[in-house]
Amino acid sequence: MQFLHDIISYFENSVLADNIRENDLLFPLIESIHVVAICLVVGSILAVDLRLLGFASVHRSVSRVTAGILPLTWVAFAVAVASGGLLFISNATKYLENGYFVAKLFLIGLAGLNMVVFHLVSAKDMAQWDSQSRLPFRARLAGGLSVLLWISVVACGRWIGFTMRVG
Ligand code: HEM
Repeated sequence: MQFLHDIISYFENSVLADNIRENDLLFPLIESIHVVAICLVVGSILAVDLRLLGFASVHRSVSRVTAGILPLTWVAFAVAVASGGLLFISNATKYLENGYFVAKLFLIGLAGLNMVVFHLVSAKDMAQWDSQSRLPFRARLAGGLSVLLWISVVACGRWIGFTMRVG
């Protein structure tokens, strides 16, 4: 635990974190990049989830929908993590005290787990139902859980700014 604390305070006291904290333009600029990246992450994931739930793109196979979108999701996710990390180091101690920030990271982990379980377990026999408009329950469950988890991530992200301890 001490090791993690040392790493976090090392970055929080870095020249980079100082610049983000002190410069009037840097934080809003990085947060804007964060918002655009998360729009692409959540938007692209919801497009796949709506297919899994049978609400959209039902005339396209699941594998075609995911193959067309997932590369964008991963690139946008990398940008979201990088920009989020820069915002985080600018005020790391206070963010770690913020329940919404911690909850957001936990929910991102759960959303990732849901995705892994879907791809490695639920979608193992996808060839059998890939082009169906109404998919097996486990595929619809994965889509529904994903929608709930990502909306919760965005809500927690939004609430961080309203609940940060000042001073
Ligand atoms: C893809 C996953 C992510 C999503 C969907 C997400 C979502 C959000 C949202 C909706 C906001 C509020 C933006 C605003 O309204 O201005 C936000 C802010 C923020 N996020 Fe993320 N985020 C993600 C990943 C991360 C990661 C990995 C970190 C850090 C390690 C992070 C750190 C932050 C910080 C520090 C803020 C600024 C809060 C503030 O002071 O206003 N985010 N995020």
